[in-house]
Amino acid sequence: MAEVSNKQVVLRDYVSGFPKESDMYVSSSTLKLKLPEGSKGVVVKNLYLSCDPYMRNRMSKLDYESYVDSFKSGSPITGYGVAKVLESGDPNLKEGDLVWGMTGWEEYSILNSTQALFKIHHTDVPLSYYTGILGMPGMTAYAGLYELCSPNKGEYVYVSAASGAVGQLVGQFAKLLGCYVVGSAGSKEKVDLLKNKFGFDEAFNYKEEPDLNAALKRYFPEGIDIYFENVGGKMLDAVLLNLRVHARIAVCGMISQYNLEQPEGVHNLMQLITKRAVMKGFVVGEYYHLYPKFLELVLPSIKQGQIVYVEDVAQGLESGPAALVGLFKGRNVGKQVVVVSRD
Ligand SMILES: NC(=O)c1ccc[n+]([C@@H]2O[C@H](COP(=O)([O-])OP(=O)(O)OC[C@H]3O[C@@H](n4cnc5c(N)ncnc54)[C@H](OP(=O)(O)O)[C@@H]3O)[C@@H](O)[C@H]2O)c1
Repeated sequence: MAEVSNKQVVLRDYVSGFPKESDMYVSSSTLKLKLPEGSKGVVVKNLYLSCDPYMRNRMSKLDYESYVDSFKSGSPITGYGVAKVLESGDPNLKEGDLVWGMTGWEEYSILNSTQALFKIHHTDVPLSYYTGILGMPGMTAYAGLYELCSPNKGEYVYVSAASGAVGQLVGQFAKLLGCYVVGSAGSKEKVDLLKNKFGFDEAFNYKEEPDLNAALKRYFPEGIDIYFENVGGKMLDAVLLNLRVHARIAVCGMISQYNLEQPEGVHNLMQLITKRAVMKGFVVGEYYHLYPKFLELVLPSIKQGQIVYVEDVAQGLESGPAALVGLFKGRNVGKQVVVVSRD
Protein backbone atom coordinates (compact mmCIF):
# COMPACT_ATOMS: atom_id res chain seq x y z
CA MET A 1 0.00 0.00 0.00
CA ALA A 2 1.64 3.22 -1.19
CA GLU A 3 1.93 6.08 1.23
CA VAL A 4 2.32 9.45 -0.42
CA SER A 5 2.78 13.00 0.72
CA ASN A 6 -0.40 14.92 0.04
CA LYS A 7 -0.59 18.71 -0.21
CA GLN A 8 -4.02 20.17 0.53
CA VAL A 9 -5.70 23.60 0.38
CA VAL A 10 -7.35 24.15 3.76
CA LEU A 11 -9.95 26.79 4.70
CA ARG A 12 -8.48 28.69 7.64
CA ASP A 13 -11.77 30.07 8.92
CA TYR A 14 -15.19 31.06 7.65
CA VAL A 15 -15.15 34.15 5.47
CA SER A 16 -17.24 37.30 5.44
CA GLY A 17 -16.85 40.02 2.83
CA PHE A 18 -14.33 39.62 0.05
CA PRO A 19 -12.30 36.40 0.33
CA LYS A 20 -8.52 36.73 0.68
CA GLU A 21 -5.73 34.40 -0.26
CA SER A 22 -4.89 34.14 3.45
CA ASP A 23 -8.34 32.69 4.18
CA MET A 24 -6.78 29.44 2.95
CA TYR A 25 -3.41 27.80 3.46
CA VAL A 26 -1.57 24.86 1.94
CA SER A 27 -0.67 22.03 4.30
CA SER A 28 1.07 18.74 3.72
CA SER A 29 0.47 15.36 5.31
CA THR A 30 0.84 11.71 4.33
CA LEU A 31 -1.93 9.57 2.90
CA LYS A 32 -2.25 5.80 2.45
CA LEU A 33 -3.57 5.26 -1.07
CA LYS A 34 -6.04 2.53 -0.11
CA LEU A 35 -9.83 2.38 -0.20
CA PRO A 36 -11.51 1.36 3.05
CA GLU A 37 -12.68 -2.30 3.02
CA GLY A 38 -15.96 -2.65 1.06
CA SER A 39 -15.93 0.95 -0.22
CA LYS A 40 -17.67 1.66 -3.53
CA GLY A 41 -15.64 4.84 -3.91
CA VAL A 42 -12.34 5.63 -5.60
CA VAL A 43 -8.81 6.71 -4.83
CA VAL A 44 -7.82 9.42 -7.32
CA LYS A 45 -4.85 11.53 -8.29
CA ASN A 46 -6.10 15.06 -8.92
CA LEU A 47 -4.90 16.64 -12.16
CA TYR A 48 -6.87 19.87 -12.69
CA LEU A 49 -9.01 21.87 -10.26
CA SER A 50 -11.72 24.32 -11.20
CA CYS A 51 -12.09 27.75 -9.56
CA ASP A 52 -15.80 28.55 -9.47
CA PRO A 53 -17.62 31.57 -8.01
CA TYR A 54 -20.15 29.40 -6.08
CA MET A 55 -17.23 28.27 -3.90
CA ARG A 56 -17.39 31.67 -2.20
CA ASN A 57 -20.78 30.69 -0.79
CA ARG A 58 -19.24 27.55 0.65
CA MET A 59 -16.54 29.59 2.41
CA SER A 60 -19.23 31.17 4.61
CA LYS A 61 -20.93 29.49 7.51
CA LEU A 62 -24.33 29.14 5.86
CA ASP A 63 -27.22 29.55 8.25
CA TYR A 64 -29.90 29.06 5.61
CA GLU A 65 -30.85 26.17 3.37
CA SER A 66 -28.77 26.18 0.20
CA TYR A 67 -28.02 23.83 -2.67
CA VAL A 68 -24.44 23.68 -1.39
CA ASP A 69 -22.94 22.96 2.03
CA SER A 70 -20.36 25.12 3.76
CA PHE A 71 -16.77 23.96 3.62
CA LYS A 72 -15.53 22.85 7.05
CA SER A 73 -13.17 25.39 8.50
CA GLY A 74 -9.80 23.77 9.22
CA SER A 75 -10.43 21.11 6.52
CA PRO A 76 -9.43 20.86 2.85
CA ILE A 77 -11.86 22.51 0.47
CA THR A 78 -13.56 20.60 -2.33
CA GLY A 79 -14.72 21.47 -5.82
CA TYR A 80 -14.94 20.34 -9.41
CA GLY A 81 -11.84 18.80 -10.91
CA VAL A 82 -10.36 16.27 -13.29
CA ALA A 83 -8.68 13.21 -11.78
CA LYS A 84 -7.13 9.85 -12.60
CA VAL A 85 -8.47 6.75 -10.88
CA LEU A 86 -5.82 4.84 -8.92
CA GLU A 87 -8.13 2.31 -7.23
CA SER A 88 -11.85 1.73 -7.60
CA GLY A 89 -14.60 0.02 -5.65
CA ASP A 90 -17.09 1.02 -8.38
CA PRO A 91 -17.42 -1.65 -11.09
CA ASN A 92 -17.92 1.09 -13.72
CA LEU A 93 -14.50 2.61 -13.05
CA LYS A 94 -11.08 1.04 -13.14
CA GLU A 95 -7.49 2.03 -12.49
CA GLY A 96 -6.27 4.48 -15.14
CA ASP A 97 -9.73 5.85 -15.99
CA LEU A 98 -10.15 9.61 -16.08
CA VAL A 99 -13.08 11.31 -14.36
CA TRP A 100 -14.43 14.81 -13.78
CA GLY A 101 -16.64 15.91 -10.91
CA MET A 102 -16.39 16.68 -7.22
CA THR A 103 -13.02 16.05 -5.64
CA GLY A 104 -10.70 17.50 -3.00
CA TRP A 105 -8.35 20.47 -3.39
CA GLU A 106 -5.38 18.19 -2.76
CA GLU A 107 -2.97 16.02 -4.69
CA TYR A 108 -4.72 12.75 -3.92
CA SER A 109 -8.27 12.11 -2.72
CA ILE A 110 -10.11 9.14 -1.31
CA LEU A 111 -13.70 9.68 -2.44
CA ASN A 112 -16.29 7.59 -0.61
CA SER A 113 -18.77 7.70 -3.46
CA THR A 114 -18.57 8.05 -7.24
CA GLN A 115 -22.02 9.63 -7.50
CA ALA A 116 -20.64 13.08 -8.28
CA LEU A 117 -18.17 11.81 -10.90
CA PHE A 118 -18.48 11.50 -14.68
CA LYS A 119 -16.23 9.08 -16.56
CA ILE A 120 -14.27 10.82 -19.34
CA HIS A 121 -14.63 9.02 -22.67
CA HIS A 122 -13.14 11.60 -25.03
CA THR A 123 -9.47 12.38 -24.51
CA ASP A 124 -8.70 13.92 -27.93
CA VAL A 125 -9.39 17.36 -26.42
CA PRO A 126 -7.41 19.09 -23.65
CA LEU A 127 -8.21 17.31 -20.36
CA SER A 128 -8.48 20.63 -18.54
CA TYR A 129 -11.58 21.35 -20.68
CA TYR A 130 -13.48 19.05 -18.32
CA THR A 131 -13.23 21.80 -15.69
CA GLY A 132 -14.79 24.24 -18.17
CA ILE A 133 -16.33 23.86 -21.60
CA LEU A 134 -16.83 20.09 -21.20
CA GLY A 135 -17.70 20.22 -17.52
CA MET A 136 -19.92 22.14 -15.14
CA PRO A 137 -19.54 25.63 -16.72
CA GLY A 138 -20.23 24.24 -20.20
CA MET A 139 -23.38 22.52 -18.98
CA THR A 140 -24.39 25.75 -17.23
CA ALA A 141 -24.10 27.78 -20.43
CA TYR A 142 -26.01 25.12 -22.36
CA ALA A 143 -28.82 24.62 -19.84
CA GLY A 144 -29.28 28.33 -19.16
CA LEU A 145 -29.35 29.37 -22.80
CA TYR A 146 -31.10 26.44 -24.51
CA GLU A 147 -33.41 25.16 -21.76
CA LEU A 148 -34.41 28.41 -20.07
CA CYS A 149 -34.24 30.94 -22.90
CA SER A 150 -35.19 28.94 -26.05
CA PRO A 151 -33.22 31.28 -28.35
CA ASN A 152 -34.40 32.00 -31.89
CA LYS A 153 -32.39 33.15 -34.87
CA GLY A 154 -32.12 36.92 -35.03
CA GLU A 155 -32.91 37.54 -31.35
CA TYR A 156 -30.96 40.10 -29.30
CA VAL A 157 -28.86 38.45 -26.61
CA TYR A 158 -26.92 40.11 -23.83
CA VAL A 159 -24.37 38.29 -21.62
CA SER A 160 -22.67 39.76 -18.53
CA ALA A 161 -19.32 38.45 -17.16
CA ALA A 162 -19.13 37.46 -20.80
CA SER A 163 -15.45 36.50 -21.07
CA GLY A 164 -15.57 34.04 -18.16
CA ALA A 165 -15.97 30.28 -17.98
CA VAL A 166 -19.71 30.35 -18.67
CA GLY A 167 -20.18 33.64 -20.51
CA GLN A 168 -17.74 33.01 -23.37
CA LEU A 169 -19.74 29.88 -24.23
CA VAL A 170 -23.18 31.45 -23.93
CA GLY A 171 -22.15 34.09 -26.44
CA GLN A 172 -20.66 31.57 -28.88
CA PHE A 173 -23.69 29.25 -28.64
CA ALA A 174 -25.99 32.19 -29.30
CA LYS A 175 -23.90 33.27 -32.31
CA LEU A 176 -24.08 29.74 -33.75
CA LEU A 177 -27.87 30.02 -33.48
CA GLY A 178 -27.84 33.25 -35.48
CA CYS A 179 -28.52 35.67 -32.64
CA TYR A 180 -27.13 39.19 -32.28
CA VAL A 181 -24.87 39.00 -29.23
CA VAL A 182 -23.37 41.67 -26.99
CA GLY A 183 -21.21 40.95 -23.94
CA SER A 184 -19.84 43.03 -21.11
CA ALA A 185 -16.64 42.46 -19.17
CA GLY A 186 -14.34 44.35 -16.84
CA SER A 187 -11.24 45.19 -18.91
CA LYS A 188 -10.11 46.19 -22.39
CA GLU A 189 -8.30 42.87 -22.79
CA LYS A 190 -11.54 40.99 -22.10
CA VAL A 191 -13.59 43.22 -24.40
CA ASP A 192 -11.07 42.58 -27.20
CA LEU A 193 -11.37 38.83 -26.60
CA LEU A 194 -15.15 38.99 -26.83
CA LYS A 195 -15.07 40.80 -30.16
CA ASN A 196 -12.01 39.28 -31.79
CA LYS A 197 -11.79 35.74 -30.45
CA PHE A 198 -15.33 34.72 -29.46
CA GLY A 199 -17.09 36.53 -32.30
CA PHE A 200 -19.53 38.62 -30.25
CA ASP A 201 -21.13 41.34 -32.37
CA GLU A 202 -20.31 44.00 -29.79
CA ALA A 203 -18.77 44.20 -26.33
CA PHE A 204 -18.18 46.90 -23.72
CA ASN A 205 -16.31 47.45 -20.48
CA TYR A 206 -19.01 47.95 -17.85
CA LYS A 207 -16.49 49.61 -15.51
CA GLU A 208 -16.16 52.50 -17.96
CA GLU A 209 -19.91 53.06 -18.29
CA PRO A 210 -21.22 55.54 -15.70
CA ASP A 211 -24.79 54.92 -16.97
CA LEU A 212 -25.46 51.23 -17.69
CA ASN A 213 -28.96 51.97 -18.96
CA ALA A 214 -27.53 54.35 -21.57
CA ALA A 215 -24.85 51.81 -22.53
CA LEU A 216 -27.45 49.09 -23.11
CA LYS A 217 -29.62 51.48 -25.13
CA ARG A 218 -26.58 52.16 -27.32
CA TYR A 219 -25.95 48.47 -28.02
CA PHE A 220 -29.60 47.38 -28.08
CA PRO A 221 -31.63 50.22 -29.63
CA GLU A 222 -34.44 47.68 -30.19
CA GLY A 223 -34.13 46.11 -26.72
CA ILE A 224 -32.99 42.76 -25.34
CA ASP A 225 -34.75 39.44 -26.00
CA ILE A 226 -32.48 37.28 -23.84
CA TYR A 227 -30.32 38.25 -20.89
CA PHE A 228 -27.92 35.66 -19.49
CA GLU A 229 -27.46 37.01 -15.97
CA ASN A 230 -24.10 36.38 -14.30
CA VAL A 231 -23.59 39.48 -12.18
CA GLY A 232 -26.83 40.90 -10.67
CA GLY A 233 -27.01 44.27 -8.90
CA LYS A 234 -27.05 47.46 -10.96
CA MET A 235 -26.59 45.55 -14.21
CA LEU A 236 -29.82 43.62 -13.70
CA ASP A 237 -31.70 46.84 -12.99
CA ALA A 238 -30.36 48.39 -16.19
CA VAL A 239 -31.26 45.31 -18.23
CA LEU A 240 -34.83 45.34 -16.88
CA LEU A 241 -35.24 48.82 -18.38
CA ASN A 242 -34.21 47.52 -21.81
CA LEU A 243 -36.27 44.37 -22.25
CA ARG A 244 -38.30 43.59 -25.34
CA VAL A 245 -41.77 42.09 -25.11
CA HIS A 246 -41.57 38.38 -24.14
CA ALA A 247 -37.94 38.67 -23.05
CA ARG A 248 -36.31 35.83 -21.11
CA ILE A 249 -33.76 36.24 -18.33
CA ALA A 250 -31.79 33.17 -17.22
CA VAL A 251 -30.58 33.95 -13.72
CA CYS A 252 -27.36 31.98 -13.60
CA GLY A 253 -25.37 33.95 -11.05
CA MET A 254 -25.04 37.30 -9.27
CA ILE A 255 -21.35 37.55 -8.55
CA SER A 256 -21.55 41.28 -7.71
CA GLN A 257 -23.58 40.31 -4.63
CA TYR A 258 -21.62 37.34 -3.26
CA ASN A 259 -19.31 39.35 -0.98
CA LEU A 260 -21.79 41.96 0.23
CA GLU A 261 -23.10 41.83 3.79
CA GLN A 262 -26.40 43.26 2.53
CA PRO A 263 -27.46 42.44 -1.04
CA GLU A 264 -28.43 45.43 -3.20
CA GLY A 265 -32.11 45.72 -3.99
CA VAL A 266 -33.61 45.42 -7.48
CA HIS A 267 -35.80 48.35 -8.46
CA ASN A 268 -37.17 47.76 -11.94
CA LEU A 269 -38.99 44.44 -11.55
CA MET A 270 -42.25 46.02 -12.73
CA GLN A 271 -40.79 45.83 -16.24
CA LEU A 272 -41.43 42.08 -16.11
CA ILE A 273 -45.14 42.84 -16.21
CA THR A 274 -45.18 45.42 -18.94
CA LYS A 275 -42.81 43.35 -21.13
CA ARG A 276 -44.53 40.04 -20.24
CA ALA A 277 -41.00 38.80 -19.52
CA VAL A 278 -39.84 35.67 -17.72
CA MET A 279 -36.97 35.68 -15.24
CA LYS A 280 -35.99 32.24 -13.97
CA GLY A 281 -33.17 31.01 -11.78
CA PHE A 282 -31.53 27.64 -12.24
CA VAL A 283 -28.87 25.35 -10.82
CA VAL A 284 -26.83 23.32 -13.28
CA GLY A 285 -27.04 20.19 -11.11
CA GLU A 286 -30.64 19.71 -12.22
CA TYR A 287 -29.60 19.44 -15.88
CA TYR A 288 -26.83 16.84 -15.87
CA HIS A 289 -29.17 14.30 -17.49
CA LEU A 290 -28.63 16.39 -20.64
CA TYR A 291 -24.84 15.91 -20.53
CA PRO A 292 -24.68 13.27 -23.33
CA LYS A 293 -26.81 15.50 -25.60
CA PHE A 294 -24.61 18.46 -24.71
CA LEU A 295 -21.44 16.54 -25.63
CA GLU A 296 -22.95 15.64 -29.02
CA LEU A 297 -23.31 19.36 -29.70
CA VAL A 298 -20.12 20.67 -28.22
CA LEU A 299 -17.43 18.08 -29.07
CA PRO A 300 -17.80 18.44 -32.86
CA SER A 301 -18.01 22.23 -32.49
CA ILE A 302 -14.66 22.25 -30.66
CA LYS A 303 -13.00 19.91 -33.16
CA GLN A 304 -14.28 21.88 -36.16
CA GLY A 305 -13.12 25.15 -34.58
CA GLN A 306 -16.65 26.59 -34.42
CA ILE A 307 -16.24 27.12 -30.68
CA VAL A 308 -13.03 28.21 -28.97
CA TYR A 309 -12.30 28.20 -25.27
CA VAL A 310 -9.93 30.43 -23.34
CA GLU A 311 -8.46 29.22 -20.07
CA ASP A 312 -6.44 31.02 -17.43
CA VAL A 313 -4.12 28.37 -16.09
CA ALA A 314 -2.50 28.65 -12.64
CA GLN A 315 0.36 26.24 -12.07
CA GLY A 316 0.50 24.16 -8.90
CA LEU A 317 -1.84 23.57 -5.96
CA GLU A 318 -0.05 26.39 -4.08
CA SER A 319 -1.43 28.87 -6.60
CA GLY A 320 -5.01 27.71 -5.89
CA PRO A 321 -6.00 30.20 -3.16
CA ALA A 322 -4.86 33.24 -5.20
CA ALA A 323 -6.52 31.91 -8.33
CA LEU A 324 -9.80 31.30 -6.50
CA VAL A 325 -10.05 34.70 -4.83
CA GLY A 326 -8.94 36.35 -8.11
CA LEU A 327 -12.38 35.54 -9.57
CA PHE A 328 -13.91 38.20 -7.35
CA LYS A 329 -11.48 40.87 -8.60
CA GLY A 330 -11.87 39.85 -12.24
CA ARG A 331 -8.22 38.75 -12.40
CA ASN A 332 -9.04 35.63 -14.44
CA VAL A 333 -9.10 35.99 -18.21
CA GLY A 334 -11.26 33.06 -19.29
CA LYS A 335 -11.87 29.88 -17.32
CA GLN A 336 -9.71 29.78 -14.18
CA VAL A 337 -8.04 26.37 -13.85
CA VAL A 338 -5.42 25.15 -11.37
CA VAL A 339 -3.01 22.47 -12.59
CA VAL A 340 -2.10 20.02 -9.84
CA SER A 341 -0.40 17.52 -12.11
CA ARG A 342 -0.43 16.94 -15.86
CA ASP A 343 -0.27 13.12 -15.65
N1 LIG B 1 -26.54 28.56 -11.67
C1 LIG B 1 -25.54 27.70 -11.80
O1 LIG B 1 -25.72 26.48 -11.72
C2 LIG B 1 -24.17 28.24 -12.04
C3 LIG B 1 -23.12 27.41 -12.46
C4 LIG B 1 -21.87 27.99 -12.76
C5 LIG B 1 -21.68 29.36 -12.60
N2 LIG B 1 -22.72 30.11 -12.16
C6 LIG B 1 -22.56 31.57 -12.02
O2 LIG B 1 -22.22 32.08 -13.29
C7 LIG B 1 -21.47 33.27 -13.14
C8 LIG B 1 -20.20 33.17 -13.98
O3 LIG B 1 -19.41 32.10 -13.48
P1 LIG B 1 -18.04 31.73 -14.19
O4 LIG B 1 -17.59 30.43 -13.65
O5 LIG B 1 -18.21 31.91 -15.66
O6 LIG B 1 -17.07 32.86 -13.63
P2 LIG B 1 -16.06 33.75 -14.47
O7 LIG B 1 -16.90 34.69 -15.28
O8 LIG B 1 -15.10 32.89 -15.16
O9 LIG B 1 -15.28 34.56 -13.35
C9 LIG B 1 -15.93 35.50 -12.59
C10 LIG B 1 -15.95 36.88 -13.29
O10 LIG B 1 -16.99 37.66 -12.72
C11 LIG B 1 -16.69 39.01 -12.92
N3 LIG B 1 -16.95 39.77 -11.68
C12 LIG B 1 -16.36 39.63 -10.48
N4 LIG B 1 -16.87 40.51 -9.60
C13 LIG B 1 -17.80 41.23 -10.28
C14 LIG B 1 -18.67 42.30 -9.92
N5 LIG B 1 -18.68 42.81 -8.68
N6 LIG B 1 -19.48 42.80 -10.87
C15 LIG B 1 -19.48 42.30 -12.12
N7 LIG B 1 -18.68 41.28 -12.52
C16 LIG B 1 -17.86 40.75 -11.61
C17 LIG B 1 -15.21 39.11 -13.28
O11 LIG B 1 -15.11 39.43 -14.65
P3 LIG B 1 -15.03 40.96 -15.15
O12 LIG B 1 -13.57 41.30 -15.27
O13 LIG B 1 -15.74 40.91 -16.45
O14 LIG B 1 -15.70 41.81 -14.11
C18 LIG B 1 -14.70 37.69 -13.06
O15 LIG B 1 -13.67 37.37 -13.93
C19 LIG B 1 -21.22 33.43 -11.65
O16 LIG B 1 -22.18 34.32 -11.13
C20 LIG B 1 -21.45 32.05 -11.10
O17 LIG B 1 -21.82 32.04 -9.76
C21 LIG B 1 -23.94 29.59 -11.88
